[in-house]
Order: sequence, then C-alpha cells, then structure tokens
Amino acid sequence: MLMNALESAAVNSTARRALQRFFELSWLIRLGGRLDGGRALEIGCGSGYGTQLIIERMGAASVDAVDPDPRMVDRARRRLRRHANVVRIVHGDALDLGGALGAEGGSYDAAFDFAVLHHIEDWRAALDEVARTLRPGGRFYFVEVTSAALARPTYDRLFDHPEHDRFAAGQLLAELSRHGLDVGPRWRTFIGSDYVLGVARRAGPSASGPE
Ligand SMILES: C[S@@+](CC[C@H](N)C(=O)[O-])C[C@H]1O[C@@H](n2cnc3c(N)ncnc32)[C@H](O)[C@@H]1O
Repeated sequence: MLMNALESAAVNSTARRALQRFFELSWLIRLGGRLDGGRALEIGCGSGYGTQLIIERMGAASVDAVDPDPRMVDRARRRLRRHANVVRIVHGDALDLGGALGAEGGSYDAAFDFAVLHHIEDWRAALDEVARTLRPGGRFYFVEVTSAALARPTYDRLFDHPEHDRFAAGQLLAELSRHGLDVGPRWRTFIGSDYVLGVARRAGPSASGPE
C-alpha cells in the first residue's frame, strides 16, 4: 500500500532523516556491521535516503532498490544521481524481485527494509522473496513499525496501512526464523514495543562476500 501525502511528508521530514541517520543506522551497524564492498538490495526505497546511507555509511558497492510508487522512484533517482553508476532504482514490488530486478536466488550480500513490510498486505511473501535473493550468510537489516504503533490514533487516523495480519515485534521475529533468517540476539525494540529493528542472517554455509 502506497503512502498518503501526510505520511510521505512525515517520512521525508528532517526529523525522520535525522532519526534514520543517527539512530537507526547506528544500531544496524552495531548489530550487523558494515557492508564494505557488498551488493545490497533495498525493498521500498521511498525517496532514496536509506539507499544513500547504504552506499555512503554502510559502504555497499552497489544497491538495487524497488518501490511501487512512481513519485518516490522519481525522487530517489534525483537524489541518487551522483551514485547512478552503482545504484539502480526500479519501479516494482518486493513481492516479485525477479520480475522487477531480475534478482536471482542468492544474489545479494544484504537486504534492507526501512519501514516497508508493514505497508505490504502479504508481508510474509515479501520475506520469502528477501530470503530467496540473499546469499547464504547474507544479512537482512530491518527497521519496522509494529501493530502497537499502527493502533495509535496518529497512525490510525492520519496514515493508510493494510489492516489485516499486522505484526507485533515477536511475530516478525518468528516469521524471520520461519524463512531461515536467523536474528538471534541482534534486535531491539524502541519507544516501548512500537518499533523493532535488527539484523538477521540467512542460514546456510557462508559463501564468499563481506563478513
Ligand atoms: C514508510 S515508507 C518508507 C520509505 C523508505 N524506506 C524510507 O525509509 O524513507 C514505505 C514505502 O514502502 C513502499 N511500498 C509499499 N508497498 C510496497 C511493496 N509491495 N513493495 C515494495 N515497496 C512497497 C511505499 O511505496 C513506500 O515508499
């Protein structure tokens, strides 16, 4: 489900950018390390600020990103113009990464989700796609909005989100594990249990790539 105008303004505000850069990214690096020289996937890139951080702060060599909102794709492409040789922004759906990006199984060292799964009706199927496209040992970095936050009046009245099968932090962690994405102790909640972030590793023998 696409963002409405109010959510788009909130997500792209200076305050959110600061939170993403100084809090979320710092925690993701602390829990999962950087990605120097790695090949990254981002689902739901929005206006591309997270994509920029994946290149500039995580040290990824390249990022393939998808978003179904053409306005966001345009914004992201404009923002990332100077990284155009290493960043590919595609109009598409996290449920079909093969169709959108030609992503084959095991092709990425890391995948990123900055507040996207809670926008996807069938978020479990999106996790399936993420797990499929990660190489064994590859990392899934996630920051998510839980059912607790979505039930608050601000979210409920002002923003549009799927209403069925919302997840609490524990449900998301359990589903990661069901898809062979092992999170172990590498997660935390913040603002009570409204938000959850962490880093999961795809099970299986680690092939070559950044550790
Ligand atoms: C809350 S915004 C987050 C955007 C960006 N990741 C950020 O942190 O600024 C959620 C994004 O998910 C995208 N989205 C919704 N459904 C999606 C889907 N099925 N596949 C990929 N992205 C989706 C929306 O278009 C929107 O850009």
